[in-house]
Amino acid sequence: RNHRSHIECRGDINRLNAHFLEIYESLIPPEEEKEKQKQLMALLNKHVTNEWPKAQLFLYGSCANSFGFRKSDIDVCLAMGDADVDKSEILLKLADILKSDNLENVQALTRARVPIVKLMDPITGISCDICVNNMLAVVNTKLLLDYSKIDVRLRQLAFIVKHWAKSRGVNETYQGTLSSYAYVLMCIHFLQQRTPSILPCLQGMEVTYKVNVDNVECCYFDQVEKLQGFGSRNGESIAQLVWAFFNYWAYCHDYTNDVISIRMGSLISKREKDWTRRIGNDRHLICIEDPFEVSHDLGRVVDKRSIRVLREEFERAAEILQYDPNPCVKLFEPY
Ligand code: CTP
Ligand code: MG
Repeated sequence: RNHRSHIECRGDINRLNAHFLEIYESLIPPEEEKEKQKQLMALLNKHVTNEWPKAQLFLYGSCANSFGFRKSDIDVCLAMGDADVDKSEILLKLADILKSDNLENVQALTRARVPIVKLMDPITGISCDICVNNMLAVVNTKLLLDYSKIDVRLRQLAFIVKHWAKSRGVNETYQGTLSSYAYVLMCIHFLQQRTPSILPCLQGMEVTYKVNVDNVECCYFDQVEKLQGFGSRNGESIAQLVWAFFNYWAYCHDYTNDVISIRMGSLISKREKDWTRRIGNDRHLICIEDPFEVSHDLGRVVDKRSIRVLREEFERAAEILQYDPNPCVKLFEPY
């Protein structure tokens, strides 16, 4: 922590609200995109149930968690009902079936970290990745969606942060920066930490939803309609929150000792997770605990070089929001 951790926000910050909301609105997918997704899902479903009557298809990722931008690709999970299947075999078979329909660019990528079939549907213009038995992703998608229903400021903040990360080139896991999923977790954690809090900790409440996936017990309070107005005691505007988010990651977060955990609704220590040293490729230079796979640090992609890139970008954003006369242009300037 350094001297900047208690800095006060510029006086005219609320001048930026309209700009941020405009950006948010412009990125929201239009209704007809949802319709096209359903149309493609129906087509895929027909093929899948024809071949595997017990299998089911689920949407996951940004097309289903409410944090997706317009014109995004969709992520689909094929749940086989049997955990012990040969994924490569299934994906090769699936690719064959889909090639015989008029889908384009059908490819099975069986050697990828998450093996998938990729394709493009020329009727709807949508591209899609299909993976097998990735049910934890389906469940964490529901958790993110449920959080987004509690207070609209989460979706607004996450859209601005994702848009910033994509513009600045720090949303590339293969280059050691963070996934969109990690950024949304950072936003949820941040809103849980405001005083008064804007989001509750759903995994710390009465259990109304419970599933066991790959031997992980996933449970939390999912009756979020009962939490309407939860954050209304906190009147912070989106501009204040965007400013405070970057100020936190630039100057307040303790990278040496702390892990952010939406599961606990608080910071936890690296020491208690044994995330204090490098083990294999996990360096734990920025620690973001997965809500269900708690041994999984979403920051594990970050290395010695990319942590510098990330922290410099957080500082750049914080400086622009504090001092720049025209922050909304500068903040999203291509790198
Ligand atoms: N996911 C995960 N663990 C990760 C990364 C991703 O479980 N380490 C799952 C999450 O369910 C996430 C989905 O994969 O929602 C897609 O991840 P990602 O591509 O990071 O996010 P999107 O929300 O699809 O973002 P974008 O709009 O950039 O496509
Ligand atoms: Mg995606």
